[in-house]
Amino acid sequence: MASNGKANTTGAPQETIQETMGQEQAAAVARRRNFAIISHPDAGKTTLTERLLLYGGAIQQAGAVKARGEQRRVTSDWMELEKQRGISITSTVLQFDYGIHTINLLDTPGHQDFSEDTYRTLAAADNAVMLEDAAKGLEPQTRKLFEVCRLRKIPLFTFVNKMDRPGRDSLELLDEIEQELGLLCWPVNWPIGNGDQFRGVIDRRRRRAILFQRGGRGRQALELEMGLEDPRLSQLVEEDLLQKALEELELLDGAGADLAMDTIHRGELTPMFFGSAMTSFGVRPFLDAFLTLALPPVARTSSGGMIDPLSCQFSGFVFKLQANMDPRHRDRVAFLRVCSGTFERDMVAHHARSGKAIRLSRPQKLFGQDRSVVDRAYPGDVIGLNNPGVFAIGDTLYQGQKVEYEGIPCFSPEIFSCLHNPNPSAFKGFRKGVNALREEGAVQILYDTDPSKRNPILAAVGQLQLDVVQHRLEHDYGVITRLEPLGFTAARWVSGGWSALEAMGRLFNCKTVRDSWNRPVLLFKNSWNLQQLQEDYPDLELAAVAPVVSGMEPIPL
Ligand code: G4P
Repeated sequence: MASNGKANTTGAPQETIQETMGQEQAAAVARRRNFAIISHPDAGKTTLTERLLLYGGAIQQAGAVKARGEQRRVTSDWMELEKQRGISITSTVLQFDYGIHTINLLDTPGHQDFSEDTYRTLAAADNAVMLEDAAKGLEPQTRKLFEVCRLRKIPLFTFVNKMDRPGRDSLELLDEIEQELGLLCWPVNWPIGNGDQFRGVIDRRRRRAILFQRGGRGRQALELEMGLEDPRLSQLVEEDLLQKALEELELLDGAGADLAMDTIHRGELTPMFFGSAMTSFGVRPFLDAFLTLALPPVARTSSGGMIDPLSCQFSGFVFKLQANMDPRHRDRVAFLRVCSGTFERDMVAHHARSGKAIRLSRPQKLFGQDRSVVDRAYPGDVIGLNNPGVFAIGDTLYQGQKVEYEGIPCFSPEIFSCLHNPNPSAFKGFRKGVNALREEGAVQILYDTDPSKRNPILAAVGQLQLDVVQHRLEHDYGVITRLEPLGFTAARWVSGGWSALEAMGRLFNCKTVRDSWNRPVLLFKNSWNLQQLQEDYPDLELAAVAPVVSGMEPIPL
């Protein structure tokens, strides 16, 4: 364990202390499971989160999380958004214990909050749960988030929700995932009936039926478990429903792959579950199985090779920054994912990018509206650090030998607006604000290739990002700006750089701009134009996600 600047007051030999701390760390890592839920709005993420927290005893009453979800939806007024942002942001990570496990549930905000943060959160997650509505199957936002999971090859678990309502055929939903996402499915639970005839699930591995009885809205469902040969089963479940479920299971057994841990952990096979978050049907069996199949915190790639979470050297990376979480204090918080070692309050760590040593005082754990000071955190945990403008997205903090994590790539923006500063005397504040907000990762900044057009182009994945930039420029930098929407909907980086682009000659139906690292980016009005270009120029390699540029500072405005 590297020094945290505190004296050893126990009197015990240093080796004994180190050994005990090593054991403590190993036990903490083994216990931890960290995941994010990816879904399309309305699939039931808030409801499922609430159920999980209820099982974990982290909340006592249904509705505690739900109320926040509703609040988030009701208005798009900025001041309201600011308040709600506080709410959604403070739930960046929800930590709770369940059985022997400590679970870190990373929040990926809902549709109004959809932004690059949503993608970045997945960089800090070890596992993802893909939640889909049984009546709708795969939906656009889920597909986008899935692509990020695929990029990171993280284990993906599928929960088909709202089985208490008439939905699509379960085999059809499975087929859709396999065909469209190219992902093997292995149903761990298979539903008996659906809609108002949803009776329960069959646990495929244990060959047992788990029947549900409604526990009333907001109350945990009653579960009755029995073997498939149990005579009570035919008394409790209509014969045709049971027969259909068993026949489908037979079909799956004959066709499917094995539930192998390595294929799950490589993100090639998704364990699949069916249930209803609202009525709590199938949530507990899902949670129990998920915890046995999910990946605990594992080694992560760094500049110096893989870093084992059990290493005694503390390290972690910043995946999200947030300003003004508490408008009364105008504070800024950097969210750090602990990757190795043990984090201790007030420890001094190195900031890899600047080389500075920083005392990590006032680390916070945020749960809903509550904040508490963290004394210790382990790999898989997320902590909020006070950020006096030092940290940027992707920054590594470490003790001991220098390490630097891979960083977080730029994701393809979908909204583009030219940012005007109508008041030339405010240019200094404008420039300072734009540079600072880019560094914070609030928005991506692109530039026209025509040097006479100096206004930056703001590029975002969600409208909220543009609202935040304008609001912050006005309130933090005193500059009132104007946005001119540009009408593009997609961006692609040219993988071969400027020379590859020039070799293609003049391109039509797209606009060439440069990013903050002077890389060429093509902007398209619609997906048809993008597809057309790819067909016309098959040799031009385009990327939807731009790799991290290391060792080079971005070009300021
Ligand atoms: P989100 O966070 O993914 O956007 O979804 P959220 O949990 O807010 O759920 C969206 C709607 O779907 C809510 O209904 C919620 O009650 C409902 N829902 C969630 N899970 C289930 C389920 O398993 N079965 C059924 N039948 N409905 C479910 P709402 O009408 O928007 O709100 P409310 O009036 O129910 O509170």
